[in-house]
Amino acid sequence: MKCDFIITTVGLLVLATVALGLENGLARKPPMGWMSWERFRCITDCKKYPDECISEQLFMRMADLMVSEGYLEAGYDYVNIDDCWLSMDRDASGRQIADPTRFPSGIKHLADYIHSKGLKFGMYQDIGTKTCAGYPGMKGFFEIDAQTFAEWDVDFIKIDGCYADELEMVNDYILFGELMNKTGRPILYSCSWPVYQEYNGIIPNYEILKNTCNMWRNWGDIEDSHSSVETITRYFSDNQERIQPHSGPGHWNDPDTLVLGNYGLSYEQSKSQLAVWTVLAAPLLLSNDLATVTPEVRSLLLNRQIIAVNQDILGIQGLLVKTINRIEIWKRPILPRVKDELTQAIAFVSRRADGAPYAVSVKLVDDLGLSNSTYIKGYDVIDLFNADRKPFFVRADSHFETRINPTGANFYKFVPKLNIILRGITDIDN
Ligand code: GLA
Repeated sequence: MKCDFIITTVGLLVLATVALGLENGLARKPPMGWMSWERFRCITDCKKYPDECISEQLFMRMADLMVSEGYLEAGYDYVNIDDCWLSMDRDASGRQIADPTRFPSGIKHLADYIHSKGLKFGMYQDIGTKTCAGYPGMKGFFEIDAQTFAEWDVDFIKIDGCYADELEMVNDYILFGELMNKTGRPILYSCSWPVYQEYNGIIPNYEILKNTCNMWRNWGDIEDSHSSVETITRYFSDNQERIQPHSGPGHWNDPDTLVLGNYGLSYEQSKSQLAVWTVLAAPLLLSNDLATVTPEVRSLLLNRQIIAVNQDILGIQGLLVKTINRIEIWKRPILPRVKDELTQAIAFVSRRADGAPYAVSVKLVDDLGLSNSTYIKGYDVIDLFNADRKPFFVRADSHFETRINPTGANFYKFVPKLNIILRGITDIDN
């Protein structure tokens, strides 16, 4: 009896929290920016690696490059510190502090610098007793840490789930979210608890997630290789029925950072990660050294048409709809809507490595699921990776052929075109 009562009370408390909701109004579109972890890890030796160590210099330099290289203008506006920024000890009043040798001016100063560039500032902590790299976590300090982040003018917080008690984890994330809301500063909340639950065979409660977090890591850490990108992509396609419905404005599934611009991806593979992440409506957080990104990869990252697809305001996560001879077809509905039909962003993602480019020919209706209604004459097709190519028309009842390079991707937008006879009686909604 007593036990039932406790369970019911806990249940009611959780429900009350869910009903309150996140309501911070943030992340109406997938967040875009830069984050240190994948490229700069936990490099802390600034004598040996002055340009790479986790230090205020690194984040100031990246902030400068975000502006000078055009990333901010294209929409990438967060600069986020990941792990390894903390001092090993809290101060006498229990406040978390940054490592004094690597962040000699303090976090508030760094936040001010980043804000002065027109950028937003993100940080990292952990819901357990330690961060994943072993720095002091937040358990037992939620209130003071939420307050400190707000005082430092933090705009984004990633809270990891290492060294945390699995039974307490979710309630702790909820509690910390409430404490952040209470500070009055809107702080985008990125949670990691689904990864930890999934690894332990537990299906996360997405209703609680959506009401607590603006985005959440679903699966393991990305690394600098095409096979890592493929593994995460496969998690997303294998689990799409379960996870896709929960992503949308204000609350996104997060497949982890973009690794374009580093050592591991070829140009073709860079297109593949970018196309899949765009179809997934994923947050676009770069983790690379912005100083060494090649012009070719930089122009992929700054491709305005692709960014516009990622940022489409409907915020619908796309799906893997078909695989033909190891060419995956990924599809995401976006605006504009013509009559009752939405535009579709369609990526052809090659899982082939057999030398020559591979041609696939698909039927618009049977293979791509596009409509052949009386209103629609066909589609204007825009080649997203070839911005200079003119849009071309494809009839609704015809085939579409495309040739994809090994391990690469082709990416198009199919905009419905009205049947000329019916034009004028319909509205196009942008
Ligand atoms: C975990 C996270 C990573 C990164 C590291 C930092 O592994 O999943 O994204 O934050 O911790 O230690």
